[in-house]
Amino acid sequence: MNEQLGGLKKGMIVSPIENGTVIDHLPPGRAVRIAQMLGLMEGAVVIIGQNLKSTKYGRKDLIKVENRFLTDEECSRIAIFAPEATVNIIKNYELVEKRKVSIPDVVEGIAVCSNANCITNKEPVPTRMLTVSRSPVKMACHYCGYEVRAEDLRFRG
Ligand code: CTP
Ligand code: ZN
Repeated sequence: MNEQLGGLKKGMIVSPIENGTVIDHLPPGRAVRIAQMLGLMEGAVVIIGQNLKSTKYGRKDLIKVENRFLTDEECSRIAIFAPEATVNIIKNYELVEKRKVSIPDVVEGIAVCSNANCITNKEPVPTRMLTVSRSPVKMACHYCGYEVRAEDLRFRG
């Protein structure tokens, strides 16, 4: 293991991880929601940093999760709440890949339509949310047209 990472560096308040994913540059206050959306809160070792100082963005949130790697689809879901997020893949304490996320055109199945009368809330029909604006991010239900801003989008479970 790298000497520098072994002892915490001065000013470092969140320790390095051995294997897993670091989801960085999240807007302040979004980390818990994103971790819940990805289902990281059930059993995995997760470190959440909130309102950390960032040279690039002033303040940021960050998620570190051990032994969990994200699919492309999971990365694109992160982008709905954090278009500037960086997904870092760590193996044996080394950074092996740094990915930018991009907002998906469509999110299938996991979101909830906010319209109580929508067919997806009455019948066992999987939801289908379409991205209708990218800045700010807005999604619309494919079935009923109901629009929500990213911060109001809810997920199952
Ligand atoms: N990291 C970690 N464990 C490791 C290696 C890196 O938790 N074993 C974390 C770092 O603390 C950082 C992120 O992974 O939050 C990305 O690492 P790195 O690219 O080295 O940091 P920066 O240069 O600050 O990244 P960026 O340029 O994306 O801001
Ligand atoms: Zn709907």
